Amino acid sequence: MAAKIIHALLALSSLAVLSVNAQAPGVPVVIAKPYINANSSHFGLGIEGASIDQAGNVYAVDWGTAATGYTIGQIYPKQKLVYSNPNKIALYKGIRWLKTPSRPSNVERQALLVDTQLGISRLTIFKNGVQKLETVCTHPNLTLANDCAISDTGDIFISQQIWNDQTVIGDGGVWHCHQNDVNATAVPLFIGGRTNGIEVSPDDKTLYVSEAFNVAGLGPVSNILWHFTITKTKTGPKLTNKRVFVDFAKLDNTASVDIDGSRTDIDGNLYVTRNGGGGVYKFAPNGKPLLFIKTNFPTPANLELAGKDGKTMYIIGPCDGSNGVDKGCANQYRARLPGKAWSKLRAY
Ligand SMILES: *[C@@H]1O[C@H](CO)[C@@H](O)[C@H](O)[C@H]1NC(C)=O
Ligand SMILES: *[C@@H]1O[C@H](CO)[C@@H](O)[C@H](O)[C@H]1NC(C)=O
Ligand SMILES: *[C@@H]1O[C@H](CO)[C@@H](O)[C@H](O)[C@H]1NC(C)=O
Repeated sequence: MAAKIIHALLALSSLAVLSVNAQAPGVPVVIAKPYINANSSHFGLGIEGASIDQAGNVYAVDWGTAATGYTIGQIYPKQKLVYSNPNKIALYKGIRWLKTPSRPSNVERQALLVDTQLGISRLTIFKNGVQKLETVCTHPNLTLANDCAISDTGDIFISQQIWNDQTVIGDGGVWHCHQNDVNATAVPLFIGGRTNGIEVSPDDKTLYVSEAFNVAGLGPVSNILWHFTITKTKTGPKLTNKRVFVDFAKLDNTASVDIDGSRTDIDGNLYVTRNGGGGVYKFAPNGKPLLFIKTNFPTPANLELAGKDGKTMYIIGPCDGSNGVDKGCANQYRARLPGKAWSKLRAY
């Protein structure tokens, strides 16, 4: 009965939007609840980088219109503008809030911002309202930084995505620097096709990163989630033991659907958005698909587990991926376990 209803809903949605129904057979499907719709949204089409702070609040980039990628806003508990780059040249794609430092005590909160042009910046908001932006790391070849993940040791892993009709090695990769760096040079750890969603497991031992390849005239032909072992060395972390975590061509025949935002819960289950697939997959740490969470918009870009108990998932993306004057939307889903970032930010 439930399956029939879900099928009917999927059939309806596939008429309305150009999305692929990306669900492997036998994987339970649940439907996320609307949270921000086109009418209530203060965000633009570039909404991305969902991120939780120490209080459980959720933020995203592109407060305003689609030309406001230099801003970040809060999406939960209420929508408000948080930061606007005074030079208006930045184009932010990702946010990761840091633990509030105990010293200097006049710091209210700090976040790493992924800037497509400048690599990683650190935003400090002081208790008196003053805001400071510093460059953490950059590199002449780190153009189009796309997202980042952080470990307990403060290591930042940055994914890069250069969109070419024909993807070549070097259009993406994983770069490294440290959250306390200032004006540092990012170090490449892996060079590959265009990379996007990136996350570190709760025990800091595994790095998940997506890699996609386009072929001219065909678009994306491959979407693979890799996992690497993070190996500590004197000169910083290295990525070893690269292996396939999920190959979407094999899982559900959706090699053309991009893997985007990625987050783990406290047990290391990995959630990834299918940008164009209308939902979020949940995978066990062994790669087994556990659940598909369907969104009411076709191109979910990112997600975060947040709220007071860390269990409310916020899934964000353009409300209607086909409309150029679109707004940014959000759906909600109640997960069984809190998110990794929620637990790490509180554990201090
Ligand atoms: C937005 O408002 C319009 C006009 O009131 C309404 O027709 C439409 O259904 C609303 N859309 C959503 C997504 O709520
Ligand atoms: C940037 O990439 C090019 C092409 O791979 C390489 O030749 C060059 O050395 C790189 N630049 C730096 C500063 O690493
Ligand atoms: C970092 O670079 C900026 C811009 O060039 C400069 O103003 C600042 O002093 C530098 N900071 C450090 C710690 O080197």
